[in-house]
Amino acid sequence: MSSYIGLDLGTSSLKAILIDEDQRVLAEHTVPLTVQRPHDGWSEQDPASWCSAAVEALRALREQNDCRDVAGLGLSGHMHGATLIDGDDQVLRPCMLWNDTRSAEQAAAMDADPQFRAITGNIVFPGFTAPKVDWVRENEPDTFARIAKTLLPKDYLRLFLTGNHVSEMSDAAGTAWFDTGARDWSDELLTACHLSRGQMPDLVEGSAPSGNLRDKLAVDLDLPAITVAGGAGDNAAAAIGAGVVQDGGAFLSLGTSGVLFAANAGYRPDPASAVHSFCHAVPDTWHQMGVILAASDALQWLSRLTGQSAAKLTGDLGPLTAPTRTLFLPYLGGERTPHNDAAIRGQFLHLDHATDAKAATRAVLEGVAFAFADCRDALASTGTRIDRALALGGGARSDYWLSAIATALDITLDVPEAGDFGAALGAARLGMMAATGAGAEIATPPPIAHSIAPDRALTQAFTDQNARYRAAYDLLKDH
Ligand code: XUL
Repeated sequence: MSSYIGLDLGTSSLKAILIDEDQRVLAEHTVPLTVQRPHDGWSEQDPASWCSAAVEALRALREQNDCRDVAGLGLSGHMHGATLIDGDDQVLRPCMLWNDTRSAEQAAAMDADPQFRAITGNIVFPGFTAPKVDWVRENEPDTFARIAKTLLPKDYLRLFLTGNHVSEMSDAAGTAWFDTGARDWSDELLTACHLSRGQMPDLVEGSAPSGNLRDKLAVDLDLPAITVAGGAGDNAAAAIGAGVVQDGGAFLSLGTSGVLFAANAGYRPDPASAVHSFCHAVPDTWHQMGVILAASDALQWLSRLTGQSAAKLTGDLGPLTAPTRTLFLPYLGGERTPHNDAAIRGQFLHLDHATDAKAATRAVLEGVAFAFADCRDALASTGTRIDRALALGGGARSDYWLSAIATALDITLDVPEAGDFGAALGAARLGMMAATGAGAEIATPPPIAHSIAPDRALTQAFTDQNARYRAAYDLLKDH
């Protein structure tokens, strides 16, 4: 019986799972990763840490289960990072991550050139890959001159695993160098960025093979010659893991970032809405998403500030209550949907003597809920209505948070049974597709443990607070 591995390179950890042909999880392992923030707005990781984490995770899977029959491996990873390598595949500088906003000026200049929105179907956000590489061109010209390839984070991990320079459509669509409708690099946009197609990896679909595990690594790790699939950016991979492929399917993810994701049968770009329109991980499919930069990250920030764990902060909140006047805007590192504002920062409003850690936690969770409400409205403005979504990501363990979000958005959230492996499962499924030729039909939805409906008794209170939230953004955005 064959088995399949999924590797999900997340911002805060690398997660590996091993599944059998029936998609039962046989083994899993997580390795923590750190983010370096040497200046305000910067967010970087050392690509070497991804490779050592992957080796550690693969060894742990092999210790937990026999891995001699592994036939396929899929990769998922945080999107948009710029991993720059020279002609000898050596990394030229730390990877600038998806939530690094230092290239706001470069992004604005590109976004003012109409061909970027027309070809990519997206605003050029500062977190996207192209403006970050342009920042390197302007600020670190010696490094720029030595770029042989620019790789997305999981594609650098693929280079380490297979020796091949390959990307796939879902992640490539987040670079701002990509023709999203045609599923190909855009020579016009690359030329506009002083780059060429030769500096880009080859492209495959996420469910197609991209190479095999390198012989040396296979020997070192005592693994067979596994087929490595194209894989996907973490959100498209999570969608494959959650069975969100057909038009109308949706999920809401409370990871480091927050994502409201809708699968689309066709390509539905609408850059003016600040909604992202990317390729999905299986051929001929696309998706849209609203992205907020700090979801669980906002709670982590409060956890560091108060010295209490996120689980402790959310653990004793009791049932959902009406918001108080204390208000939190979760824009700790700027915001994407709907504001495209790299300069805005987080805000606490209306603190009084009685504001304790519990009240602050409620305000943080509500603030993230209102940021998601903005994403729902942005998607609705493109004609994509969401009434129901799967709730994914670490933050979805808090029923209080999900209840606040369901009430703020007036949607029902379906919570999968424990053992929802998200993007790692999606990656493993893509590995299975690449190794066996199976199609998207193997991406089935998870069993649902329970559903969280809006609390209609609190709808008015949340609507009123949402209006204050929006007014606060308008008031504070220029300060
Ligand atoms: C999506 C995005 C984030 C990252 C990290 O556009 O920037 O969701 O993929 O998870």
